[in-house]
Amino acid sequence: MPDKKFPKGFLWGSATSAHQVEGNNHNDWTEWEKKNAERLSKEARNKFGHLPNWKDIERDATDPNNYISGRVCDHYGRYKEDFDLAKSLGHNAHRFSIEWSRIEPEEGKFDETEIEHYRDVVKALRVRGMEPFVTIWHWTLPVWLARKGGFSHRSFPNHFERYAKKIVREIGSDVKFWITLNEPDVVASHSYLKGVWPPQNKNLFTYYLSLKNLIKAHKLAYTAIKKINRNAEVGIAKHQISFEVGRKTSINFFLKAIGHYFWNRWLLNSIRNHQDFIGLNHYNRNVIDNGFSKNPNKKLTDFGWEFYPKSIYQALIELKPYNKPIYITENGIADAKDNMRKEFIEHALASVFRAITDGATVNGYLYWSLMDNFEWDKGFWPRFGLVEIDYKTLERRVRPSALIFRDIIKSQIV
Ligand code: FCB
Repeated sequence: MPDKKFPKGFLWGSATSAHQVEGNNHNDWTEWEKKNAERLSKEARNKFGHLPNWKDIERDATDPNNYISGRVCDHYGRYKEDFDLAKSLGHNAHRFSIEWSRIEPEEGKFDETEIEHYRDVVKALRVRGMEPFVTIWHWTLPVWLARKGGFSHRSFPNHFERYAKKIVREIGSDVKFWITLNEPDVVASHSYLKGVWPPQNKNLFTYYLSLKNLIKAHKLAYTAIKKINRNAEVGIAKHQISFEVGRKTSINFFLKAIGHYFWNRWLLNSIRNHQDFIGLNHYNRNVIDNGFSKNPNKKLTDFGWEFYPKSIYQALIELKPYNKPIYITENGIADAKDNMRKEFIEHALASVFRAITDGATVNGYLYWSLMDNFEWDKGFWPRFGLVEIDYKTLERRVRPSALIFRDIIKSQIV
């Protein structure tokens, strides 16, 4: 069999987001965490008691401290050390996000020291030969903006545009790839449809408004960024699900069409003329059999998600009609013991390769995540990292699967 060799210039690396790794932020999430930690720890048994690894996570999941991000990995203070590690693992690209609450802690007042910090972060990547992918917004909001109604408030698009412009003007000279928004549909649905993330306002109308606002915010920022630098490459990171039918019945095909349109296409269609690339975040397939989520779940990750790395093939092929370069901006699993991650990476990358062979223009793969981090309303126990974090000492330990990933990167062969 011929070698499966990735195209020249393919970008390899991993991703993080500010709130999940930096530590000591003050934003809408940190406020929400303080108010909800107790409740979340009490609900844990009901929510996660069915997981096969419940015994391993029980102590953390039932401890209120698990739900307070606090100093988390102190990536804010240790980013250089972390980038040294990423470089040693062969990465030539890295995705991180900027914390809006640091940049604009008060409405209209920008903090020059924090801007300088992120300028240094970009520099630190460049000197290590890593291409920065900068996410402008990965879900957390300055408190003043959350108080106004956050991304459901009509003022949001203009606030976002002003913040994005500031960032791009101030730190943009060395950045090519911008991701305006991370998974707008995921954050909107958790906040306003399921009502489980801040501000926990379950309301169908507000959900719709918030999506519309996010789309508008992206479009405004897209146009503004291109005005500042027409060579910039701008996109969003879009969460895509591979819908599959179980039994081949017409109802199942119908449900698949509905799921696929609303989750995978509606938002991308509406920003079609405002994106230079598609950032693909992919974690799951959804098997349909007289209803959604009938996955066989033969093997589960720590998170309770089905272990099925191959589903990324379908997600990539389904993006072909957009005719845009694709960068995989997130893909990974929670696996504290690192038992499954090696196989996950190998299978996922073989599927990426197959998609390339079948005509998908994939230019890069960023694993989620470089290191263990704070997983939103689940807290610390889900461990997605190539690098393990000891939260007591903040020591970093490279997991064996990270070396497998490194070897694939080195040989470019999967
Ligand atoms: C994605 C988020 C990312 C992380 C992973 C596990 O939906 O973008 O921040 O939480 O899931």
